[in-house]
Amino acid sequence: MTIRVLINGADGKMGQQAVKALTHAEGLSVAGQAGRKDDLSAIIAQIKPDVVLDLTTASAVFQNASQIIQAGVRPVIGTSGLLANQIQLLTAQSLEKKLGGLIVPNFSVGAVLAMKYAQDCARYFSDVEIIESHHPQKADAPSGTAIRTAEMIEAARQKMLTPTFSKETLSGARGANYKNVPIHAIRLPGILARQTVMFGGSGELLTIQHEISDRESYMAGICLACREVMHLNTLFCGLEHVLFTISK
Ligand SMILES: NC(=O)c1ccc[n+]([C@@H]2O[C@H](COP(=O)([O-])OP(=O)(O)OC[C@H]3O[C@@H](n4cnc5c(N)ncnc54)[C@H](O)[C@@H]3O)[C@@H](O)[C@H]2O)c1
Repeated sequence: MTIRVLINGADGKMGQQAVKALTHAEGLSVAGQAGRKDDLSAIIAQIKPDVVLDLTTASAVFQNASQIIQAGVRPVIGTSGLLANQIQLLTAQSLEKKLGGLIVPNFSVGAVLAMKYAQDCARYFSDVEIIESHHPQKADAPSGTAIRTAEMIEAARQKMLTPTFSKETLSGARGANYKNVPIHAIRLPGILARQTVMFGGSGELLTIQHEISDRESYMAGICLACREVMHLNTLFCGLEHVLFTISK
C-alpha cells in the first residue's frame, strides 16, 4: 500500500526538499501540496491523504495540526514553535479521534542520537547549558530541538539543579531558562543548524555537538515518520519514538 502524503508548506525550503524526497521514496507518494493561501481543511477533504506533513511556520502550526486531527488524518508535524500546552491539547484531540500522529522537533537521525546522549549524560551531570545556532531566516528562537533537549534532560536529571543563573549586568546575558537549562540562541549567516550541549563537572567538561550542513539530512527522518505514523494510535513527540523501535 502506498502512503499518500499531503505536504503543507510545500513551497518552503523544507517543503520543496520534502516533495522531492517523498516523490522518490518507496511506499510513499505526494498526494498534494498546500501553502499559505490554501484552505487546509478543504484540501484535506478533497485529496483524502493518509498523512499530512506540516512544514510551515510557528504562528500557524497549532491551527494546522488541530485541523489535520479534526479531519481524521494522521499529522507529521515538523514545524517548530508548538508550546507545551498546545501539545497537550493536540494530544487530547488525537486521543478523542483515536488517531496516531508525530510531532518531530528534529528529523535528523544524528540530532536525535545527540539528544539521546545528552539525556544519558544528564543522569551524571546536573550542570548543563545548550547553545543552538541557526541561519538568520529561522523565524523562532529557541529552536524546537533545544526545547526538546531541555525537556529530555529534565526528565533524566537525578538531582534538581540549583539554577546557576548569576546576576546579569546586561539582560539576557545568561540566555533563556527552560526547565532549569540555560538556552542560548545564535542566528548567523554561514550556519544552517548546530546544537552544542555542554555539561560541566568538577574539573571536567563534556560537550555533545551536532551540526547539519544540508537539509537533505532531514529527509530520511521525514520518510521514516510518514511511514511509521501509520502504526501509531496516539500522538507522540520526537522521532525517537519510531527510530529506536524499528532499529531494534
Ligand atoms: N523538524 C525538523 O527537523 C525541522 C528542520 C528544519 C526546519 N524545521 C521547521 O520547519 C518549518 C519550515 O522551515 P523552512 O525552512 O522550510 O521555512 P520556510 O519559511 O522556507 O517555509 C515555510 C513555508 O510555509 C508557508 N506557510 C506559512 N504559513 C503557512 C500556513 N498558515 N499554511 C500553509 N503554509 C504556510 C510559507 O509560505 C513557506 O512556503 C519551520 O518551522 C522550521 O523551524 C523543522
